[in-house]
Parts: sequence; structure tokens; C-alpha cells
Amino acid sequence: VSSHVVVIAIDGPSGSGKSSVSKAVAARLGLAYLDTGAMYRAATLWCVGRGTDLADEAAVAHAVRVMPLVSGLDPDAPTVHLDGRDVSEAIRTTEVSTAVSQVATNLEVRAELRRRQRRTIEAEAAADGFSGGRGIVAEGRDITTVVAPDADVRVLLTASEEARLRRRSLEVHGAADESAVEATRDQVLRRDRDDATVSQFEVAADGVVTVDSSDLDFDQTVDAVLAVVTQVTA
Ligand code: DC
Repeated sequence: VSSHVVVIAIDGPSGSGKSSVSKAVAARLGLAYLDTGAMYRAATLWCVGRGTDLADEAAVAHAVRVMPLVSGLDPDAPTVHLDGRDVSEAIRTTEVSTAVSQVATNLEVRAELRRRQRRTIEAEAAADGFSGGRGIVAEGRDITTVVAPDADVRVLLTASEEARLRRRSLEVHGAADESAVEATRDQVLRRDRDDATVSQFEVAADGVVTVDSSDLDFDQTVDAVLAVVTQVTA
């Protein structure tokens, strides 16, 4: 017996609301959830913890190949374990956020992590009556284009620069007044620039549906993505 389970790929820049929206969509549809950004963050933490020089590309690539990473796939409680240790919070520090681009631009690191991501997605997509794939939402920067270009549903979640700065500012400073937004601006724009060197995610590739969340609140954005899922899989 073969029944189809859905694979949903969601890409977008930081501050687009991508992670929280992806988690909510996965929870609503009963799907697994994979945060690929968390894998690049875990790789960064792993290298820093081992004292690997992030500028030494071969050493970083080697460290990541042997990295004992386990990505929890529960959208209600996504966790990341490194060598048995729960690092779900440790990968969100400013230190990791600042260093992660250097690891994410390492081409051998990308090849290794993409391989692991595809393996996870394929396992969850398999529904042959024996292996119990749930279907999956995978989110990141290159999921719709490189990791899972044949996903059933592919969404690019965008938001205006202003909306993204406002959200990041609320997240980091707990406020979105003018000075808090200014304090966030440098960080967000630098991240965008660094990230853009590894993947083009501002423009949707062929067959990818763009959802612009600039004027939508969280629930409306989740509904907009769910509407795309319904439309595409109908
Ligand atoms: O989404 P995030 O902020 O947790 O992502 C962390 C970093 O990893 C960010 O610099 C972009 C990079 N990344 C990537 O290059 N490819 C992905 N599929 C996901 C994240």
C-alpha cells in the first residue's frame, strides 16, 4: 500500500517569520519539522567548541563530517542535540549568530549538511506502509531550490525590510521603537548580505509560490501558507 505524504519546503530571509510559521504549519498538518538553519548553527557551535579555526575550511569541513548531530523533528518542541547534549538554546547566542555565516559559506559543509537534510526529508516522505513517514516541513534558505526542488509544496516567505527589522527588534530588544529598530538594522542587513553569498533567496525560483507577510500578522501568515498547501495539493 502506498499513500502519499506531503513534503513542504519553505525558504526565506531572517525576520520573515519563517521558523515560527513553518513550525505552526507542521503542527497544524501533523507533519515533522526540520529547521536547517539550526543545523548550520549547530555546526558552528561544534567547531567553536572543538577549537577549530573557522577560517580553516578543510578543518571545518572535517569537523562537520564527524559531527554527531541529532535534529528533533517535533514542531511543538524542536530540539537539537550535539553529542547527546541539548544545545537548542546554545545555538541561538549572539556568538553563534555572528559566526554562522562563515561556516554556512563553506561549500563542503553545505554538501554535508544538504546530504543529511535530504536523508531526513526522504525518510519522512517515505510512506510505503512499513516505514512510517509523517511528511515534513523543511525550512531554510536553499530548500525550495537545492535540497528539495521536487517538494510537493514550495514557498518563499518574504517580508519588506521594514517589517523584518520591526520583528527582529521586538524579538531581540522587546521593543520596536525607533532606537531599537536602528540597533537591529546593522545586524539584520549584515546577515542578509552574508547569507546572500551562499544562496539567492530573495527571488522565488520557478514553481515556488511567494507569500509576502509584510502586512500579515502571524495567524494570517500561517493561513496564507496553509492556503497554498491546499491549492497545490488539491
Ligand atoms: O535561519 P537561521 O538564522 O537560523 O540560519 C542560520 C544561518 O544558516 C544563516 O546565516 C543562514 C544559514 N543557512 C543556510 O545557509 N542555508 C540554510 N538552508 C539554512 C540556513
